Amino acid sequence: MSKIEQTLSIIKPDAVERKLENEIKEIFKNKGFSILKEKKIQIEKNEAEKFYKVHETKPFYNDLCSYLSSGPIVVMVLEKNNAVLENRELMGATNPEDAQDGTIRKKYGISIDKNSVHGSDSVENAKIEIDFFFKD
Ligand code: CMP
Repeated sequence: MSKIEQTLSIIKPDAVERKLENEIKEIFKNKGFSILKEKKIQIEKNEAEKFYKVHETKPFYNDLCSYLSSGPIVVMVLEKNNAVLENRELMGATNPEDAQDGTIRKKYGISIDKNSVHGSDSVENAKIEIDFFFKD
């Protein structure tokens, strides 16, 4: 069964730096995602630490938070049937080396850190992540 969902997508600093944001947004739109909200921002490291708190015990946490706060990012609320899963499929594997042809990370990702996009991993986390960036 499919149902309309919202998910949070981030175009990460490596992709914004390479001026890929419009190309990546077109990919989402062509796959039927509506971009309900979007903004281009740069966050502080302490905000990145809050956003990625779920990873705080991981060895890559510090580098990950430094990286996400290292340059402008584009945060978006995407909407579609089954948006969470469909976005994850469209992004591809976390490590671009493992991502399948046709996925965003295969096409644009440089490394497991500079993997161009982030997407929520569950409906529950999507709500938390959307609130994090777009709470009025
Ligand atoms: P993202 O989907 O934004 O969620 C957490 C990020 O941590 C992930 O993408 C990767 O860019 C980054 N990362 C770095 N090293 C690893 C790792 N070994 N396993 C998973 N994620 C990693």
